[in-house]
Formats: sequence, structure tokens, C-alpha cells
Amino acid sequence: MELDDINTITVLGAGNMGHGIAEVAALAGYEVHLRDINEEFVENGYDQIEWSLDKLAEKEQITEADAEDALGRVETYVDLAESVADADVVIEAVPERMDIKKDVYTELEAAAPEETVFATNTSSLSVTELAEVTERPERFCGMHFFNPPVRMQLVEVISGADTSAETMDLITDLAESMDKTPVRVMKDSPGFVANRILVPLMNEAAWIVESGDATVSEVDSTTKYGIGLPMGSFELADQVGIDVGYHVLEYMHEVLGDAYEPCPLLEEKVEAENLGKKTGKGFYDYE
Ligand code: CAA
Repeated sequence: MELDDINTITVLGAGNMGHGIAEVAALAGYEVHLRDINEEFVENGYDQIEWSLDKLAEKEQITEADAEDALGRVETYVDLAESVADADVVIEAVPERMDIKKDVYTELEAAAPEETVFATNTSSLSVTELAEVTERPERFCGMHFFNPPVRMQLVEVISGADTSAETMDLITDLAESMDKTPVRVMKDSPGFVANRILVPLMNEAAWIVESGDATVSEVDSTTKYGIGLPMGSFELADQVGIDVGYHVLEYMHEVLGDAYEPCPLLEEKVEAENLGKKTGKGFYDYE
């Protein structure tokens, strides 16, 4: 398959990343099928796309006609088989848990056309292990966007052990066609490259506060005005989802060792379901 053959992209999962990826694909002119497990989740994702497109139009980053056209290219689904029946590429953005993703790929393999290419937006999990659930490991790779996808330039294109060169080329071209900057990651290691840097940053920030050495606002001011990142470490954790960062850390801890031990402060937030912007409360309040 070549870039010109891609017409329809199915995005599985309408959460923070899924709806953002669907928006980016629709803005690039693809027909997008956005699918989640129930009407409420998928409609919420659709509403977020509409909100974001309106915001971009309001700021004259796109025209109102662009926004309307992009929204018109997004169709919502609950039935997985229907959503992938004519998909050229499936981008999977379901929760960051190996068991959940493997179940989705088992169902997907049975439902999708043979030639459809699968790309996972996993933040850290083994692309090779996920691909093994399917019968198309050569047409399977990582396509890792960053939050918020519509604003962030980078897409990591990750090769699993059996990903073909054609698939890597296709997904790299696809990312470019979405106006992104793809970076190929040829070794499938936990957290790939970006999250090996970003997630320990959030964790270390939490350890500093946990140990009483500084406050949340001291750490965030330092990250922003001293280290020069666009957001403070805790603002970033709230933006990404504290649960997402926590699950990535758990996996890196399990595979890479003690340097990645998640800070209890993150675990407490996850247990209290104070996950950041998406729940209205994390390290900061958003209501
Ligand atoms: N769509 C449209 N508008 C959006 C938006 C979206 N998805 N998200 C935010 N905005 C809007 C805000 O509502 C705000 O609007 P108002 O001004 O009307 O209030 C506006 O954008 C803010 O934009 P600005 O350009 O003024 O703000 P900014 O320059 O700070 O940019 C940012 C915002 C791009 C998010 C920037 O802060 C940034 O780059 N932050 C770092 C994000 C980052 O590092 N992401 C990676 C996280 S790690 C990850 O995702 C990997 C993983 O797997 C865990």
C-alpha cells in the first residue's frame, strides 16, 4: 500500500489521544471512523474534536470552512467490525494496558480486511508483543502522537521486530501528510525515546514534592522558567493524564528496573481518580 491508497483511517479509542488523532487525520483530508466502546465515550470524543476545531478557527489557524469540512469527515462508531470494514489504516489509541490492547487486536484481526495496516499509539508497551496477537506483524508498527496531537509536532514511528520497511515508509509518509515531524525509532524498547525522557521528569518532580524538598508550584516554576519547557512538570502530568504517566512508569519499572519506580504521590492521585485536566482535578483544579 502507498500513501495515495489511504482514504479511510479508523481510530480506535475516542479518549484524549484518540479524538486528537482523529482530528489531525480529518484535517489532513482523510475519512475518519472514530470508534469507542459506548455511545457516551464516542460522542464525548466527537464533541472534543468540534471544540478544538472551533478553537483553531477562532484563532484563525484554520478557516471556518476547514473546520466544518474536517468535522464532516468524522463518523462515529460503537461496533468495531463496522468501523474497520473499509479501513486502510487503523490507529489504535485504547487504554495503555497490555491486556486491553491485546483483546482489541484479537477482535480487530478477525474484523479488518487483510491488507489493512495497524498502527498503535502506545506510549510505552512493546509493539512486537502487541503485533504477535495478529497475523500481520509485518503490517504493524507504532505511531505515537503527543498530547495534544493537534498542537504537537512529533510522531514517533516505531518498528516492531517484524515490521516491514514498507510499513515504516507508509506510516512515516502518513505522519508527514498530517503535517507532523515523524522520527523513526528502530528499536522497540519501553517508552521508546520521548517517554524515556518525559515520564521520568514527571516522576522526579513528584519525588521532590513527596520528599518535602519543594512545593508543586516551586517545581513547576523551575521547569518552566529555568529548564525552559513549555509547561511545568505537574502541569504536563495533568495535561497528559496522571494515570497515563503512571502506567508508563509501572511498565518501565517492571522491564527496565528501579530507576523508574513510580512515586507514591502519582499512585495516590490515580487511586483517587484525580487524573488531571480530563477529570477536572489533578495537581491543579480545572473546574
Ligand atoms: N485544540 C485547540 N486548542 C487547544 C487545544 C486543542 N487540543 N489544547 C489547548 N488549546 C488552546 C487552549 O484552550 C488555549 O486557548 P485560549 O488561549 O483561548 O485559552 C490555547 O490553546 C493555549 O494555546 P497557546 O498557544 O496560547 O499556549 P501554549 O503556547 O502554552 O501552547 C501547548 C499550548 C502546545 C499545549 C504547550 O503548552 C505545550 O507544548 N505543552 C507541552 C505539551 C507536551 O509536552 N506534550 C507531550 C506530553 S507527553 C505525551 O503526550 C506522550 C505520552 O505518551 C504520555
